[in-house]
Amino acid sequence: MTPLPVRAFAPGRVNLIGEHTDYNGGVCLPFAIELGVTVTAAPSARSGVDAPGLRDDDPYLRGAVAELTAAGVELPACTVELSSDLPQGAGLASSAALCVSLVLALCAAAGTDPPPQLELARLCSRIENDYAGARTGLLDQLASLLGRERHALRLDMRTLEAEPVRVELAGHVLAVLDSGAPRTLAASGYNERRAECRRAAELLGVESLSDAGDPSQLPEPLARRTRHVMSENARVDTAVAALNAGDWPALGELLDASHASLRDDYEVSVPAVERAVAACRDAGALGARIMGGGFGGSVLALFPPGAATPEGAIGVRPGPGARVLC
Ligand code: GLA
Repeated sequence: MTPLPVRAFAPGRVNLIGEHTDYNGGVCLPFAIELGVTVTAAPSARSGVDAPGLRDDDPYLRGAVAELTAAGVELPACTVELSSDLPQGAGLASSAALCVSLVLALCAAAGTDPPPQLELARLCSRIENDYAGARTGLLDQLASLLGRERHALRLDMRTLEAEPVRVELAGHVLAVLDSGAPRTLAASGYNERRAECRRAAELLGVESLSDAGDPSQLPEPLARRTRHVMSENARVDTAVAALNAGDWPALGELLDASHASLRDDYEVSVPAVERAVAACRDAGALGARIMGGGFGGSVLALFPPGAATPEGAIGVRPGPGARVLC
């Protein structure tokens, strides 16, 4: 058994483009950021796993212990402590970072190798879905686990293939700005969009909306939800080409087009998000868009070299994926 204490870090993520495509069998382009959650597991005289500052029935802790036990991991008695430099509730996948760091730290404390990365991503997403009651796709967990410095990942959610795409910004800055909007509608709105996509796929007779043909026969709002998924998938590959070519104006336009589609076809924007997008554009952004599940959270913007980002914006760049630190 590994001598305790052990520490594990898991980053948050931004998604350059490809929003609400993960649960529709589509493509997305996230990267792990340098901010994240660190979990330390230290030996404890008490039995079981406890975490000062978290309730005993904290769903993430309960879920991590239950899932690892079901996977055959024998957890030692330990105390886990969390620290984070990732803003919570800002759409930077702090809950995925928490699950991933918790699971990696507990496996290290047990002296066990964690499950392979895809299995681990699924295990962490079950913690969120089945214990914390948050429905998510696999985007956040995969981005946190597979992150790579100076690279985004083109994730194909049908095959679960991850292709690294170099992000060489040549002085440009990617920044996130928290809209500050209360995320009261986030869970119900997200679940409603997922249900609409399922219904649209059923009506079209396809397994997932990324296989959809002409959506125009669908009733509204299902037709425009489908249009978003199809156009967003196409934008991901155009964005990969723009990154490879260093075509920043094209990348900015794609961010704007993604935002328009998320606002008008997918209808996941709210006034505070529109204000944050406008603040980024006023500051000279080449493009800006709502990011993550929607109904609040952060916007992502691309600024040209030398531009002053709006107050409160945080610069982000691709960092390494989740790891055990010691
Ligand atoms: C949230 C979910 C992800 C994904 C995005 C939208 O961040 O956790 O799985 O669906 O929304 O792209």
